[in-house]
Amino acid sequence: MKYHVTLALPLSLFAGALIVSQTAQAGTSALSQQLKDLESFQVIAHRGASGHAPESSMAALELAHGWGVDYLELDIQMTADGELVAFHDDTLERTSNGEGHINDHTLAELKALDAGSWFNEENPELADEAFEGAQILTLEEVFDRFGQDARYYLETKSPELNPGVEEGLVRRLEAFDMIETGRVLIQSFDQESLLKIHELNADIPLIQLVWYSPDAENDGRLTEWTGVTPSPDEITDADFQAVADYAVGLGTNYLFDDEPVIGEAFVQQAQDNGLAVHVYTVNDIDEMQHLIGWGVNGLFTDYADRLIELTE
Ligand code: G3P
Ligand code: CA
Repeated sequence: MKYHVTLALPLSLFAGALIVSQTAQAGTSALSQQLKDLESFQVIAHRGASGHAPESSMAALELAHGWGVDYLELDIQMTADGELVAFHDDTLERTSNGEGHINDHTLAELKALDAGSWFNEENPELADEAFEGAQILTLEEVFDRFGQDARYYLETKSPELNPGVEEGLVRRLEAFDMIETGRVLIQSFDQESLLKIHELNADIPLIQLVWYSPDAENDGRLTEWTGVTPSPDEITDADFQAVADYAVGLGTNYLFDDEPVIGEAFVQQAQDNGLAVHVYTVNDIDEMQHLIGWGVNGLFTDYADRLIELTE
């Protein structure tokens, strides 16, 4: 951590130095508190309250924030002109009236899109005129709105399609003072992307995302998408420790085709090796209860309201 202690200051500078020192200490304790909180159960609003409002929209974030979730989860990508935006898919079609790859478009082009009406069409029972014309949000807009009054769980999404996203992200986190104040976790499936973030600012707590699925070419044995860990049945303490060298936790799927890919022993072993375990994306109340029973440290859910009701 980067704190400066200045000794033998002239008296006139002492008061200022004291304030700086107190701010640094407040920062230390805020970041420490965030890490301590990760030992407890965390409610992670996946793309905001995305079961109730268009994902990653201001309406979805407002709703989840109003419920008092622990983290607002967003996927971060880069526009053609270098702005950072909250958007999950690589392409625009599913959740907007745009076309093509998001990072082929400038922010002005993306801002002209309607990223809300699709939700009304897909979910007539939840449709709300207020969702029509919802804009794709920049990360700055999210920080301007919620500032230090929220915690953010930000994913470097498809970093191979968003070169420079790590530098852009760290720059903005520093500018908005989100790191030492314990406001942010960065997650990625891409280990290299996380290591870049770590290189840029070693104080940022990182979550390694993993996705386990059966490999048809290997007798259906479970494999991790990017190879960052072995199969859950074969994973060792050393494998977890290799992740714990740079990350504070693992974000993992629970099911593939309705079949569990991890068990309680996986959760326990990860925790024994110092890693928090957050499971995505869990919307069913029975599954939430089951995973809470295993002692996971948090769940990503589109329905944070359900999860809050269970955990209150
Ligand atoms: O970030 C956790 C979870 O959101 C990963 O899956 O595809 O929803 O970003 P995805
Ligand atoms: Ca995500």
